[in-house]
Amino acid sequence: MKAIEVVGLTKYYGSFLAVDNVSFEVRKGEIFGFLGPNGAGKTTTVRTITGVLRPNSGEIRVLGYDMLDEREKIKARERTGIVPEMANPYVDLTAMQNLRLMGELYGMEKREIERRSIELLKLFDLYEKRNVKVKAFSKGMRQRLILAMAMISDPELLILDEPTSGLDVLSARLIKDVIREEKRNGKTIFMTTHNMVDANELCERIGIIRRGRLIAIDTPEKLKQLVKGSVSVEVSFEPMKLDPSEIASATKVELMGDKARVFTEDPDATVRELVHYAERNNLRIVSLKTLSPSLEDVFIKLVGEGND
Ligand SMILES: Nc1ncnc2c1ncn2[C@@H]1O[C@H](COP(=O)(O)OP(=O)(O)OP(=O)(O)O)[C@@H](O)[C@H]1O
Ligand SMILES: [Mg+2]
Repeated sequence: MKAIEVVGLTKYYGSFLAVDNVSFEVRKGEIFGFLGPNGAGKTTTVRTITGVLRPNSGEIRVLGYDMLDEREKIKARERTGIVPEMANPYVDLTAMQNLRLMGELYGMEKREIERRSIELLKLFDLYEKRNVKVKAFSKGMRQRLILAMAMISDPELLILDEPTSGLDVLSARLIKDVIREEKRNGKTIFMTTHNMVDANELCERIGIIRRGRLIAIDTPEKLKQLVKGSVSVEVSFEPMKLDPSEIASATKVELMGDKARVFTEDPDATVRELVHYAERNNLRIVSLKTLSPSLEDVFIKLVGEGND
């Protein structure tokens, strides 16, 4: 059984088509990233998957349960931890009280709520602040608490809408560490993000959504192969000069300050040509390195394509 199965998901807001016939699966035990620019339809997809919004058409199964069936939806939600886009803890309650409330909502036993709350407060580095009202919490602390609340019942599936967006480096890292740890413990994670670095670091598979359409779905490394032409060699000579017409294997040359970025489909040939160029022109090679395409290159290529 798959953790999430989505077939032909379509959602309109009035006459505006926000999610257009999207299909994908999230396998049990994987971290799946849903990547897309602002307004692409990530949150709409999350809200239909979690049963907050009803799609116009399509099938959605979460942990095998049909999310369009009210009773099955409740079953799926009991086993899923959700961090919605604009989640907020109750600011007049303490961290501990928020966790208790969540535990009660999940119908957990008092003793288990206490034990799990303390465990999560420690995990998210909030234990010292457990009795402080959330209104005194920073954004990073609130987001860590929100994730702790989603994890109170130790759910087998986590659905996280932008779990690290707008956070300081330390909070973001802590959250990423927890996500990885959950995966190691056999949990499944579906997360949206527009942070390419996070997606690349965390996700085993990534779906890229643009204007409501899923335009690619693969592992980060395979996605990077889509942009072969953007392998480049970065070179710095002393003195810095480079005549692009003398590097036959280059597809494009960008001169920038004291270095140049030479794009190529054959990095081996390009490195050789650059070395010969330096010898012929009596230049010292200060640095020479091959740069692989980043997930950002993929994203820009795919999302930028056909932009009007
Ligand atoms: N309640 C709504 N009513 C009308 N249009 C909406 C509503 N919610 C979202 N939209 C529109 O649907 C599109 C998709 O929005 P959505 O929030 O799903 O995008 P997103 O990928 O989550 O973006 P972001 O990265 O900014 O969170 C956007 O064009 C948005 O303006
Ligand atoms: Mg969103």
